[in-house]
Amino acid sequence: MDHHRLLSVAFLSFLSLSFISESEPATFKIVNKCRRTVWPGLLSGANTPQLPTTGFELRSGKSRTITIPKSWSGRIWGRTLCAQYSNQTFSCITGDCGSGKLECAGGGAAPPATLAEFTLNGAGGLDFYDVSLVDGYNLPMLVLPKGGKGGGCGATGCLVDLNGACPRELRVARGNGGGSVACRSACEAFADPRYCCSEAYATPDTCSPSVYSEFFKHACPRSYSYAYDDKTSTYTCASADYDIIFCPPPYTSQKLLGSRKDGASLPLVNKTMMYIASRHSNSATASDSSANSS
Ligand SMILES: *[C@@H]1O[C@H](CO)[C@@H](O)[C@H](O)[C@H]1NC(C)=O
Ligand SMILES: *[C@@H]1O[C@H](CO)[C@@H](O)[C@H](O)[C@H]1NC(C)=O
Repeated sequence: MDHHRLLSVAFLSFLSLSFISESEPATFKIVNKCRRTVWPGLLSGANTPQLPTTGFELRSGKSRTITIPKSWSGRIWGRTLCAQYSNQTFSCITGDCGSGKLECAGGGAAPPATLAEFTLNGAGGLDFYDVSLVDGYNLPMLVLPKGGKGGGCGATGCLVDLNGACPRELRVARGNGGGSVACRSACEAFADPRYCCSEAYATPDTCSPSVYSEFFKHACPRSYSYAYDDKTSTYTCASADYDIIFCPPPYTSQKLLGSRKDGASLPLVNKTMMYIASRHSNSATASDSSANSS
């Protein structure tokens, strides 16, 4: 092989390599199927590229697609019952990020909040994602990979509205006698190291599920229910785009997901718990009519 040929081969393989690693950035399509406005919040992890937005308003039935830089990691959640007060401070009853503004600008979600967590283009070129109830729950959320080229690409999330079904001692009510608007983790509610997997319980062997984490796990079998729930709660996919849906319709989800092959062993919804939750349909996400007041 003469020198010229070698160079051009090297150049061509460089081109194709860089073409592979310069694969299309992912997109997140954030969809609000709740009856009320949701204000998504987005937080980028340390040493990860910033996103074009860190928070915005998403009215019922609307969606917004965001281009996500390669190798991004971070989390997305929904803020509910937000208002701009007359002193110009923006704040939310659940998932507030403390910025006082629509954009979270580096602020994370105040618990309790359902979190969708992502590490894109991580080990082995895979995206890792989960829906976590470790910091509690405020809204049903579904993460749905689209067009993935490797990995299991399972849908994950928590499709049941747990605000009404939340155990009394974990419940967050709005004002006096208001409906339940969120459900705290046992760690937040009781600050007990056994629930927080801290101090003497800071390893997978010493921290076990509790009756509280099992309440979340039964309702939402694919979600993270406590700190060491990794094995059944982290999903992978490669080169995918993602739909992130607030208040996905749980009864139609089987149809939505039916045509997909997904190796996950756990069901996405637990029909028993959906029945329990629907008997408590007084939650803010389903029926609070003052959600968008200001
Ligand atoms: C603005 O008003 C809200 C609601 O009354 C209050 O919680 C917040 O602390 C106020 N912020 C400032 C900067 O005064
Ligand atoms: C579904 O919920 C019931 C009632 O809480 C529970 O006993 C069962 O284990 C749950 N199923 C799954 C797969 O989590």
